[in-house]
Amino acid sequence: MTSMPKPPSLPPVNPTAEGVLPSGIGELIGYGTDRPGLIPLWVGEGDRPTPDFIGEAAARALRDGQTFYTRMLGIPELREAIAAYIARLYGGAAEPDRIFVTVGGMQAFDIALKIAAVPGDEVVVPTPTWPNFFGAIEASGAHRVMVPMSFSPASGWALDIERLAAAVTARTRVLVVNSPANPTGWTATHADLRALLAIARRHDLWIIADEIYGRFSFDPAHAALGRAPSIRDVWEPEDRDRVLFVQTFSKNWAMTGWRIGWLEGPAQLGRIVDGLILYGTSGIATFLQHAAVVAVRDGEPLVQAQIAQAREGRRILAEGLGRLPGVELPPPAGAFYAFPRIPGEPDARHLAMRLVDEANVGVAPGTAFGPGGQSFLRLCFARSAGDLHEAVRRLAPVLAAGR
Ligand SMILES: Cc1ncc(COP(=O)(O)O)c(C=O)c1O
Repeated sequence: MTSMPKPPSLPPVNPTAEGVLPSGIGELIGYGTDRPGLIPLWVGEGDRPTPDFIGEAAARALRDGQTFYTRMLGIPELREAIAAYIARLYGGAAEPDRIFVTVGGMQAFDIALKIAAVPGDEVVVPTPTWPNFFGAIEASGAHRVMVPMSFSPASGWALDIERLAAAVTARTRVLVVNSPANPTGWTATHADLRALLAIARRHDLWIIADEIYGRFSFDPAHAALGRAPSIRDVWEPEDRDRVLFVQTFSKNWAMTGWRIGWLEGPAQLGRIVDGLILYGTSGIATFLQHAAVVAVRDGEPLVQAQIAQAREGRRILAEGLGRLPGVELPPPAGAFYAFPRIPGEPDARHLAMRLVDEANVGVAPGTAFGPGGQSFLRLCFARSAGDLHEAVRRLAPVLAAGR
């Protein structure tokens, strides 16, 4: 008798890699993505392709032979254009040496973590939050320390700063501050940001400041500012060197698939970031960077159109879902997600699957976003009014019947 060949087995896999967290949003997308006619509100992107003036710039750069190896920190024209954008938006001088171009906001966060934490260190993150934060933290060998925020149907989400301060231990190296926040829309006030900086100063921590939704600010209290409050509005000169900003072209300029973003931090980190990029991705396609220059330089009307669309989308979901019995949806202060609570629903994952089956609408289950999200759903409203009205029409009977 011939013996069966042994099934191939892998050599030992790095346990940290093996323990990489599954994405609760990815699971839903896998479940429903092929349904004809499904309205996908589960990921954080709009429905408009990148406008032609940006695409044309990439094609032009390609035709011009911009196809060679690139600079690890980004081509100088792009670093300058981003620095000029930041100076326009927040005031102050343009500082291109502080800008490091990355593969989306995701790589910016990953590099920030590599700079700030070693395996075993603790990274404090308020939750519910973008799951990639804690996925990336765990994949790096550091540990996430989650600080649940509190929710009130009348006033929305609040971060208890004292509770966050109490979560800091001798192993803590980093505070993640995402404002406006995905998925809650929570937007830090200047007082919150001052308090967070004070904690970081007291314990000598890094702050990874993810302000990628800063242009999407709907709180009338911030209308005069024209954007959400930023940590750079309140920092003292000595704070600047402990803040690493994660940023991206994805949302403002409708470029999610381009995978371009940037990390902003102290210029003296340039040598380290250069090495981390060299040994990670070796930079961003040169012709895409030339197009990103055009986006950030000439794209303000596009950003304004994106904001206007999100404002209308927020109104449609807040009015359409917020009035349903059994749905609690205080309008979010920022970002572009509705995050309603369905108090009678103990299992948001199961409900999100039912909404695929019964309403043909894709939503992200609150369970994907960490402690505090269990009976919530996340719906992206950066989409056309027509799609959102239709989504409300389809969701309403299922959500009402589920009570
Ligand atoms: C809070 C937050 N930060 C960063 C990102 C990164 O986006 P990207 O990697 O597409 O630039 C996202 C994307 O959804 C996000 O929600």
